[in-house]
Amino acid sequence: MTLRAAPPAARTPDTQTVTDVRHWSEWLMSFRCTRPASLRFRSGEFVMIGLPGDNGKPILRAYSIASANWEEQLEFFSIKVHDGPLTSRLQRIQPGDTVLIGRKATGTLIADNLLPGSRLLLLSTGTGLAPFVSIVKDPDVYERFDDIVLVHGCRQVSELAYGEKIVEGLRSDELFGPLLEDKLHYYPTVTREPFRNRGRITDLITSGKLFQDCKMPPLDIETDRIMLCGSPSMLADLRTIFDERGFIEGNHSEPGHFVIEKAFVER
Ligand code: A2P
Repeated sequence: MTLRAAPPAARTPDTQTVTDVRHWSEWLMSFRCTRPASLRFRSGEFVMIGLPGDNGKPILRAYSIASANWEEQLEFFSIKVHDGPLTSRLQRIQPGDTVLIGRKATGTLIADNLLPGSRLLLLSTGTGLAPFVSIVKDPDVYERFDDIVLVHGCRQVSELAYGEKIVEGLRSDELFGPLLEDKLHYYPTVTREPFRNRGRITDLITSGKLFQDCKMPPLDIETDRIMLCGSPSMLADLRTIFDERGFIEGNHSEPGHFVIEKAFVER
């Protein structure tokens, strides 16, 4: 069989219009843009996004889609790095500007890659929260699981702002509020400043404190399904913790107890 390159139309990103930009802290922002009519995705997937480069060549990076698949617009959550090839420019975008959006979404953080279970643990650090924002807005996830525990670990309290706003919005939503009332457990945790929840996700899992604080039963391979997204070292440490307890990693060909994706955009 001969492998052929994708036709140019499939490779060229779509040009879309920025509709809203929010700056959450010195280092974090989110924005919305119009959605290409042809873009279909499952909650938790990522897509290439970017801006045209100075030499005409686009600068593209993988970004998890933070909006739900039923939303008319796309949303992304990004860090802002002063000398980052993409994010130094992305942080200056304004409504009305254009962004490039890839034509195909993909990724491993999808519910179909998990075995059936009753509690879904969404464990994230930093911008690794993004795919889980999409997932907690997906009614299908509330059908599949009795409890969804959204954990977001950050160094500082200011980094939690986007997640807090999203959860607040869902809880006060006329349609979603009742659906997730007893099901969604939001657990923000901070490592380098005083906050009501303190400590690394790894320690909160191994000590059982996460479950105690949420007034829930301890980690259980029979019921718990897990998605991980965040810093590479957190992912490596959590993978070890779950491996040691017999949890099996899932993928597109075989569902498992947990799935992993690194938070993509570093620059
Ligand atoms: P800490 O402040 O103790 O390093 P970063 O900004 O470096 O990506 O970190 C985001 C969050 O992830 C921080 O709260 C950080 O905690 C935490 N973190 C970093 N490495 C690990 C790890 N190996 N296991 C668990 N949490 C981690």
